[in-house]
Amino acid sequence: MQIAVIGGTGLIGSQVVKNLIAAGHEAVPHSQSTGVDVITGQGLDEAVAGADVVVNLTNSPTFDEASPAFFQTSMDNLLAAARKGGVGHFVILSIVGTDQVPELDYYRAKALQETLLAAGTIPYSIVRATQFMEFMDAVLSWTADDSTVRLPATPIQPIASKDVAAAVAEVAAGAPLNGIRNIAGPEIFTLDELGRITLSHKGDNRTVVTDPTAGMFAAVKGDVLTDKNAHLAATRYADWLS
Ligand SMILES: NC(=O)c1ccc[n+]([C@@H]2O[C@H](COP(=O)([O-])OP(=O)(O)OC[C@H]3O[C@@H](n4cnc5c(N)ncnc54)[C@H](OP(=O)(O)O)[C@@H]3O)[C@@H](O)[C@H]2O)c1
Repeated sequence: MQIAVIGGTGLIGSQVVKNLIAAGHEAVPHSQSTGVDVITGQGLDEAVAGADVVVNLTNSPTFDEASPAFFQTSMDNLLAAARKGGVGHFVILSIVGTDQVPELDYYRAKALQETLLAAGTIPYSIVRATQFMEFMDAVLSWTADDSTVRLPATPIQPIASKDVAAAVAEVAAGAPLNGIRNIAGPEIFTLDELGRITLSHKGDNRTVVTDPTAGMFAAVKGDVLTDKNAHLAATRYADWLS
């Protein structure tokens, strides 16, 4: 199959391209660095021309109040190009529980991205993943000072990016789900516990202070970012760390 991977140079996109090529597909990465811009529309028609499937793995440059506009404009442009090109399957990567955290701009933005896709005319698949293990360093940096890292006890089910990429590639090569598939890591931690495990592994002596008001994940209520019934990936956090 011919598969256009938009955002195909990013953390997930680059691995999805490799997996699809290894499975015998003709997968082509597109992004700003290859001259394709989902916001201005530059190069989009050419990128999706002839593609059976479009996989959109672009990401907003910020997680703040600008992120809904990024996903609105990028999806408007991509869906228009895909319709014009006669694309038969459009895949996006979203977040488990994204519609349950409307207090967060970025989660609202991802829910909007899902709505735009589902409301269109192109057969589609939405893969929702839990937080990437690769994302932990950024999460720790948001609320760290020289001696402490403040984190809420939010339940998190981290997944390795390679497992996400494998799942996205499998969905992209299959029949459109016209729905959502949840994928998640094999273990559930609280975020403060995950912070302690991560710092200890790095030999970082800072103390993790449990603080229900600290950082972006403080806005999350209950265990909406986890899903015991998701397709569970194999990689455990301790194995990924080492
Ligand atoms: N972080 C998490 O835990 C998590 C969990 C679930 C789902 N997700 C979703 O996973 C998806 C992929 O994330 P990622 O970490 O792989 O992202 P990433 O590494 O930041 O890669 C983003 C990609 O988007 C491209 N891009 C950005 N702006 C663009 C534009 N205006 N036009 C064309 N291409 C553009 C980048 O290309 P250039 O480098 O060339 O600009 C890059 O290829 C995101 O949609 C995110 O919401 C993330």
